[in-house]
Amino acid sequence: MGSNEGEMKKPHVVMTPFPAQGHINPMLKLAKLLHLRGFHITFVNTEFNHTRLLKSRGVKAFDGLPDFQFETIPDGLPPTAHDHHNDSQNVHLLFQSIPKNCLLPFQNLLARLDHSASSGLIPPVTCFVSDAIMSFTVEAAQNLGLPILLLWTASASGCLCVLHFRTTLLQKLTDESSLEREVDWIPGFKNIKAKYLPPFVTTQADPNDLKLRFFKAEMKRANRASAICFNTFDELESEEMKALSSMFTCPLYTIGPLPSFLTQTPHTNSHLELTSLGSSLWKEDTECLHWLQSQKPKSVFYVNFGSITVMSPQQLYEFAWGLANSKKTFLWIIRPDLVNGGSVILSPEFHNETKDRGFITSWCDQEKVLNHPSIGGFLTHCGWNSLTESLCAGVPMACWPFRGDQPANCRYACTVWEIGIEIDNDVKKEEVEKLVIELMEGEKGKKMREKALEWKKMAEEDTRTGGSSYVNLESVIKDVLLKGH
Ligand code: UDX
Repeated sequence: MGSNEGEMKKPHVVMTPFPAQGHINPMLKLAKLLHLRGFHITFVNTEFNHTRLLKSRGVKAFDGLPDFQFETIPDGLPPTAHDHHNDSQNVHLLFQSIPKNCLLPFQNLLARLDHSASSGLIPPVTCFVSDAIMSFTVEAAQNLGLPILLLWTASASGCLCVLHFRTTLLQKLTDESSLEREVDWIPGFKNIKAKYLPPFVTTQADPNDLKLRFFKAEMKRANRASAICFNTFDELESEEMKALSSMFTCPLYTIGPLPSFLTQTPHTNSHLELTSLGSSLWKEDTECLHWLQSQKPKSVFYVNFGSITVMSPQQLYEFAWGLANSKKTFLWIIRPDLVNGGSVILSPEFHNETKDRGFITSWCDQEKVLNHPSIGGFLTHCGWNSLTESLCAGVPMACWPFRGDQPANCRYACTVWEIGIEIDNDVKKEEVEKLVIELMEGEKGKKMREKALEWKKMAEEDTRTGGSSYVNLESVIKDVLLKGH
């Protein structure tokens, strides 16, 4: 036994996010919540992403917490795949590679952890938490007879979409015009036309489509997990969760929204130690936070399209001049790889026009920005993390969805939760200008802000001691992760 007997008796969870920014972030939040509840954590990144994390946050940020360790496995892609996708990784290639190539290195890692545990250096592994689309880990956990919890990092409605691909694809959507149909055959779905479903579950997909095959296999295996948890909360998606529970045989838990969960947790010393552990794959600019300090409350319009969205030079132009012509102050995050097939070019006229009221940088700590009192509105692509982070900050949104679950997230935000306005896919500067003004100072913007604050309050209540997500997390720990410990 190691020098500290208490440490060696801790439950030890191995956590495996899917290797993309929108998946690593919620998994790290859950890891912190489990660490605060006494777990020893092994957080497994791909080698490629971990190198990026060390570069963006500095090696020191990952040292010093002996019971929170990082390990890596290869993602199975050839080095050339990384050369081409220096920033955002090619998710398609990962969908091909991960199910095929990751189980063996993962099992080798588990053997190394077992060896360290036998030498008394770390507690033995007692359970697993994995992304629901890293389901090869279910195989590994079951071989060891240990419990495994999966985390579905997107919305419950996004999961429903994926699970209903069969009825959607084969029976309902027979031609292009049926994409205009209301999706009334998916229980729990509200106000969604078929065209808002991910293309791979509609007629645009061929049955051999890679994504379709990937999700089909992942969902089948997910059902063999001990339980699945969702980064959502009961008031937001109760009907969707009800519909989902009839489709899985394992128990489901809502444990979100995760951004609110961490802020509701009382700040102890270990909580403070954990704040240095970040998950940004790009280096965060901190100047923009200083700049926000000098702005008036709710006066800044924040623009960020997440980690994967790309747009054409023309779309960039339309957004730029829409922002400039609105005359509002803005903070715009432009990733170096945001523009399709080329570098980001904004004209000297644009810079000249906005130099006194625009701040542009390449990456930021989005949650800090959204929670800054100077922020009044958010132009987002409606990735599930951005949407829930905005909701947790009480910030209304202008929505320009890009792909996958984002169009459905956008519809929910605009028509069900009433915290968003949609920008047409074929974006025009006049529309951007109008919607920015509406959001920042119009009647509709005011109503959306009030609604966003109501959702924020509900999210806080659900994640506070005794709230439904709080109680669910406690149950999932007791009934799943600590079972047999
Ligand atoms: C992807 C998918 O696109 C999305 O639809 C799915 O729901 C989750 O996975 P992504 O496009 O990156 O994610 O969007 P999002 O879900 O919003 O995640 C981006 C994360 O990066 C957020 O947690 C956000 O806070 C963070 N971020 C983004 C930053 O911290 N700084 C930035 O400058 C930009």
